[in-house]
Amino acid sequence: MAMKLVSRKVTFGLAAVAVAAFVGVSGQLGLAQASEDDEAAEEAAADDEAAADEAEAEGAGEEDAALAQLMTEGGSVYSSNCQACHGNEGQGGAGPALAGSPILTSIGTISRQVIDGGDRMPSFSQLSDRQIAAVATFIRNSWGNEFGIVTEEDIASWR
Ligand code: HEC
Repeated sequence: MAMKLVSRKVTFGLAAVAVAAFVGVSGQLGLAQASEDDEAAEEAAADDEAAADEAEAEGAGEEDAALAQLMTEGGSVYSSNCQACHGNEGQGGAGPALAGSPILTSIGTISRQVIDGGDRMPSFSQLSDRQIAAVATFIRNSWGNEFGIVTEEDIASWR
């Protein structure tokens, strides 16, 4: 009698363990499946994003290259023609500071000032459209300024 009771308890115990194990395993399988699905969805989203980034990078790459080129040319136009009055850091001197100057948001104002000169600033109309576009791009994007590119066509329209 006592033995039977013990063996029943053991049987019941084993069954309970088996059920628990089954539930545990199938639960984990379910989880594993779900996380695989998530991963697949994430990968698909990442692929889409990569494709969009690539398309964007192509456009941005060209613009970055044009900007970098104008910055290089503009830096040398600036140091030969403007730096003496506006400072090597755009901090100003005989001329006003160009670093942080909100006047530089206007391409028209820069073009007029450089082509015509001002009260105390000489005219630089001898510079080519390309050189003025380059120096305008340079002062608009140096020393913390971020006002964007200026093209030769922009300058030509102000001649
Ligand atoms: C001889 C000194 C001198 C030189 C060289 C000079 N500038 Fe100026 N610049 C000035 C002065 C002074 C002003 C203030 C307006 C005026 O009196 O014409 C000025 C104003 C400006 C302005 C308008 C900014 C403002 O706050 O009014 C810009 C933009 C500018 N200069 C860009 C240039 C560029 C680009 C060059 C080189 C191609 C250059 N300057 C060369 C003296 C100079």
